[in-house]
Amino acid sequence: MERDILSRFGSLMVIAGSAVGLGNIWRFPYMVATNGGAAFILLYIFFVIVICLPVMVSELVIGRRSSRNAGKAMMVLSKGRPRLHRTSGIFGILYIAIPVMLLSYYCVIGGDTVFWFLRSLGVEATADKISGTLCTIVFLGLTAVVVSGGVKAGIERFSNIMMPLLFVLVIIIAVRSLTLPAAGTGYTAADGINFMFRPDFSKITAKTCLAALGQAFFSLSIGSGVLITYGSYINPKDNLLRTAGSIAFCDLLFAIIAGCAVIPAVFALEAAPQAVLACNTDSRLVFNTLPEVFAIMPMGGLIGALFFFSLIIAALTSSVSMMEVPVTWLTEESRLSRKTTVKLLFLLTGAAGILCTLKPAVLGAIDGLCANWLMPVAGIGAAFFAGWMMKKAYFYDELDSRGLNRMPQGWTVTVRTLIRYTAPVGVLAVFLTQILDLV
Ligand code: PHE
Repeated sequence: MERDILSRFGSLMVIAGSAVGLGNIWRFPYMVATNGGAAFILLYIFFVIVICLPVMVSELVIGRRSSRNAGKAMMVLSKGRPRLHRTSGIFGILYIAIPVMLLSYYCVIGGDTVFWFLRSLGVEATADKISGTLCTIVFLGLTAVVVSGGVKAGIERFSNIMMPLLFVLVIIIAVRSLTLPAAGTGYTAADGINFMFRPDFSKITAKTCLAALGQAFFSLSIGSGVLITYGSYINPKDNLLRTAGSIAFCDLLFAIIAGCAVIPAVFALEAAPQAVLACNTDSRLVFNTLPEVFAIMPMGGLIGALFFFSLIIAALTSSVSMMEVPVTWLTEESRLSRKTTVKLLFLLTGAAGILCTLKPAVLGAIDGLCANWLMPVAGIGAAFFAGWMMKKAYFYDELDSRGLNRMPQGWTVTVRTLIRYTAPVGVLAVFLTQILDLV
């Protein structure tokens, strides 16, 4: 079967769509505000450059070189080396299981975005388990519709329109939030910026490091099989290093603009900073505090609707990528059609999603397991494969776009060194400090 090939713009939009998601708008602002402000952002950028970018490149290289799904890609590249082939098979299972687990709870939060969007349009509904379940199903249904359209006609077309739109919407909301007049809370929007970005290096502990790394992996969709899968759809002529760098840049930019949209509004209109700090789970900031803020904001009805609509887009382009990983795998490795595999995944993740709606503790447990442990392990597996196991010539050939777009040698050698040494050692060090911290 002919594989789809994404256009250069399309591959950027599709991968940025996967990266920019609830992690940017829902988790990042809260994490920055409570973990040391600009100090956290600096730590985050450091992790992105020395650990995440090399791992992203490794995953894209594995995907594009093999032209196969995430379950089989490393196995294809390790043919004729039985031990490596077997280990690759185990990682392949991980690359398929992780996005399924992620989607199982991500669809619940996606459902919340649908719920609050409907509320912001004036639909009378109470936040209970029934409406939660219904909204989760609606959100998964939308995801399934996009994925059944296929990689080019479904996902690429959707992302090409939605990502630029999302960017414009988030900027409009940030401008509104930053220009809010003081409303007698004793704080202004500028205090919000100060609260969020003020560097506090004393907050940087082993725990913060793990949190920053987990957030960076989650936000860049590393270790989830998504980059391997999308890598297999990238045009051989495109420059993978530039693709990975542009995506990491867009992802951070979105997260910072989202922070400027969320925190200053809370400061100008609520009793902040207590309102921010009282949100001991990050989702409360967006789903409890912000609706109150929009209710008293000038033009809050419109801005609230735009905000929750942006959240739906951000969440959908991410959930679509999570579903695409097992769908590509199933359609390539079985005789099932794309439509059938999408239906199967809809049923499987829908059932798991309902469980997460009914038992929120399950949601938190899967989130922690995936973001803090499984995704870093899966990502490092890919880096180890690309750096140590894959033929060096293949690796450089991919970075040079198969000779069509040569990179300066200094760059490619640096990237390979980071992949071989810094990335695995960095992750191990963070794990170790975390484990020691627990003892
Ligand atoms: N990066 C997405 C976000 O920030 C989440 C995601 C993780 C998407 C893994 C795909 C795979 O919300």
